[in-house]
Amino acid sequence: MDRIRIRGGAPLNGTIPISGAKNAALPLMIASLLTEDTLELVNVPRLADISSLLRILSNHGVDHTIAGKRPGQTTETGQTIRLSAKTIIDTTAPYELVSTMRASFWVVAPLLARLGEAKVSMPGGCAIGTRPVDLLIMALERLGAQIEIDAGYVLAKAPRGLKGGEIAFPKVTVGGTHVALMAAALADGTTVIENAAREPEVVDLAACLSKMGARIEGAGSARIVVDGVSRLHGATHEVLPDRIETGTYAMAVAMTGGEVTLENTRPELLESALDVLRQAGVEVSAVNEGIRIRRNGGGIAPVDVTTDPFPGFPTDLQAQFMALMTRAAGTSRIRETIFENRFMHVQELARLGARIQLDGETATIEGVDRLKGAPVMATDLRASVSLVIAALAAEGETMVNRVYHLDRGFERLEDKLARCGAAIERVSG
Ligand code: EPZ
Repeated sequence: MDRIRIRGGAPLNGTIPISGAKNAALPLMIASLLTEDTLELVNVPRLADISSLLRILSNHGVDHTIAGKRPGQTTETGQTIRLSAKTIIDTTAPYELVSTMRASFWVVAPLLARLGEAKVSMPGGCAIGTRPVDLLIMALERLGAQIEIDAGYVLAKAPRGLKGGEIAFPKVTVGGTHVALMAAALADGTTVIENAAREPEVVDLAACLSKMGARIEGAGSARIVVDGVSRLHGATHEVLPDRIETGTYAMAVAMTGGEVTLENTRPELLESALDVLRQAGVEVSAVNEGIRIRRNGGGIAPVDVTTDPFPGFPTDLQAQFMALMTRAAGTSRIRETIFENRFMHVQELARLGARIQLDGETATIEGVDRLKGAPVMATDLRASVSLVIAALAAEGETMVNRVYHLDRGFERLEDKLARCGAAIERVSG
């Protein structure tokens, strides 16, 4: 199993290209099930989760081609994937596949909307909390689906098609909103989604569905209205930049000091995180190419943060921000309100010398003068990358084990950091 070796202490200087967003690409790929025509997605990141979803979609009968490199394209630019769900050969998503990636549960919506039935394994437990699917099921029921749960599978049926309806989410859910959008796009009549997630990835999915012929208004606000259509057609869509990857590298630069331009990304995708970085004493500026992050000389100020749905501070940046706060000049508090168990990085950060106390959903971080390298590992992808950030500022060598978590969500991580001066390398085997 690969590991990543990091020797801390070097500042980061240079340019980091930001990839297409994993969490936008996944629902966009799933949306290909809604049409017989080809959906072409541009700027898809090269990640293990993308390959896993391609395998899952193939099982349903989706053909895909990965377009050859165009002039000027390198492996450093995203890939173009064409997906064609002309004939769906299987409406079952088995446990062996769904358990490898939770987001694959979302196939339930397009299968049900287009074919009137789906049998999808419940995703099961997850390292960052219980993460149930009750709200996703509720959304489909509101559109007239009959749902049964049997032997770990969700059996969804709508023999006469889905009907528009009102879906009021009691809690903001990204996956629930994706599912509601995809199902409502092909339902008969109008659907109103209340308390919808406002994440940029929801807006991206709605934009792609609109290009495919869906009639959607209000994406990006808490109330989305969908007028169902009888069929959707093919389209070409470019995946939006990864705001979590953007924020992760911004925090890495804040941690090590230096000056880095994050290319092909946009500040409005992560204003709350950039504001927090400014409060911590980091210079953040919008430039033509993207976002410039700079910290030279000054220390890191402690800042309190609470995770919230967009436009709040993202839970997917919580671990990275905690890594930064371990070196702050004072005490900070981080409240995690989205997932109840998303603090597994705390113990591992402690191995590097961090001082963190946990009390329910709040972590109190007492900044220390120095961290010291050690072998570490983590059980999810954002937690793993928080250890990389800490290691970049730790004295001596850190070995990050279980790198496959990083490969699920960060494209060429060690390469991007090494080019900016980090002493980081992948150790195979
Ligand atoms: C998406 O997960 C992301 N995944 C997560 O990123 C992200 O952390 C999360 O949204 C929150 O922003 C993808 O986009 C592939 P939710 P999702 O439904 O949709 C509760 C990463 O590291 N809930 O918005 O599964 C749930 O338990 C991943 O890239 C219910 O109670 O998250 C949580 O407390 C990790 N019932 C809250 O809602 C439900 O039926 C928000 O979850 C559904 C959710």
